Amino acid sequence: MTTQSPPGPRGLPFVGNTHQWARDPCDFRERCAEEYGRVVNYEIIGWDAYMLTDPDDVKRVLEDTETFPKHESSIDKLREIVGEGLLTSEGDRWERQREAIQPAFFMSHIENYADIMVSRTEDTVERWRDGGTVDLREEMTRTTLEILVESMFGEDIDLEARGIYEAVEAMQGPLEPQNQPITFLAPDWAPVPFLRRANRAHDHLESQIFDILAERRRADTDREDLLAMLLDADAEMDDEQIRDEMLTFLFAGHETTALTLTYIWDLLSRNPDAETRLHEELADVVDERPTIEDVFEFEYAEAVVKEAMRLYPPAHEIRRSPAEAVTFGDYAVPEESLLVMPTWVLHRDERFWDDSEEFRPERWLGDERRGRPEYAYFPFGGGPRRCIGQQFAMTEAQLVLATMAQEWTLTRDYDDLELSAGVTLQPKGDVPVTTERR
Ligand code: HEM
Repeated sequence: MTTQSPPGPRGLPFVGNTHQWARDPCDFRERCAEEYGRVVNYEIIGWDAYMLTDPDDVKRVLEDTETFPKHESSIDKLREIVGEGLLTSEGDRWERQREAIQPAFFMSHIENYADIMVSRTEDTVERWRDGGTVDLREEMTRTTLEILVESMFGEDIDLEARGIYEAVEAMQGPLEPQNQPITFLAPDWAPVPFLRRANRAHDHLESQIFDILAERRRADTDREDLLAMLLDADAEMDDEQIRDEMLTFLFAGHETTALTLTYIWDLLSRNPDAETRLHEELADVVDERPTIEDVFEFEYAEAVVKEAMRLYPPAHEIRRSPAEAVTFGDYAVPEESLLVMPTWVLHRDERFWDDSEEFRPERWLGDERRGRPEYAYFPFGGGPRRCIGQQFAMTEAQLVLATMAQEWTLTRDYDDLELSAGVTLQPKGDVPVTTERR
């Protein structure tokens, strides 16, 4: 079979397509997919990129971690922030860590976390006033961080007093969309304020983590959370490895769910019929406060979460790199190039989604949900490196949503949600909403 180079947009000398991509990465990729089809070649920040738009090609890549390990651009900078944890390790080391950590995410454990999810949400809404204004994204981020820390590392960890919330925010600074170009181009020691803040935050979190570790070792507890798995003698992890895993979960385990919840509220406020249908289900299923049993019964609430992640996947693309030269159909892709699996593009592809721009949770119910290729939808990735927190996040999003929606309506104090695509897909700027008691 003769092979050919995949087509793609013409770039400029030195910068390639970086300037087109940086303006709006999601729009750039969508236009490229429409114009060039199955495999699209472009160049960004010096990387020779190949975007795959066929779900079967995405499946092949995500399910074969040996031929397609992670790309340097998705792990090098992260390693500087969270060290060598589950998100950034490869090969045998990754396999051992995944095996040690997996039990913390068995369904039996998630059932135990459900009460924490509801309780911490109740703390959040207790602070709200009827007719008051809050920043939606900040409220969701604080709530999901509280839930993560208590579920994974133990109760009685006061995030406020320990300065953990602020430090986690600062630690993520270098990967915020507007900071990324500097982060990738400047050396670590460069006198850039957000890099300095991130370094200080890292040191602060490290000392807090070692404190929490010491406290857990002194405590007499039978908790079976993530920290218990990390400390288990069979896991054979030293304190540095445990620190890296804890940093990894602080980094990966709350912001994406907070973003999902932010998008859910935005979409519900624009789609009153969907909001009404959600309330009907809540009235039908939930007794007083939502429980894990209710989550097993929810259909519409689950569909709302899935549909929000279809339109606004927090992980808007996934990156890999072929360890050898490969072909997709008759298109040749060279060794060590950057392979892009564009979640955003496939989630809005009209081949698989009618009226793809419309928020319609109904597409996840009954017969409508059948007949799509497996990888037309992959908000949590796929294959062996699929998100370890998928069940946790799905349960959490439904319980937080149900607990809040039972008593509160959130009205937008902004017009449109402008988005910005860095490592995650984020709203640009504040997201003010008015909290109204129902
Ligand atoms: C809506 C919420 C979430 C989304 C959209 C999401 C998305 C993803 C995606 C796409 C990946 C795969 C990345 C890749 O293949 O390169 C991933 C991996 C990961 N996620 Fe999530 N995630 C979410 C919530 C969570 C939660 C709640 C946790 C932990 C409590 C978590 C922890 C992780 C970890 C540790 C990995 C690395 C897994 C590995 O490589 O073995 N995530 N996530």
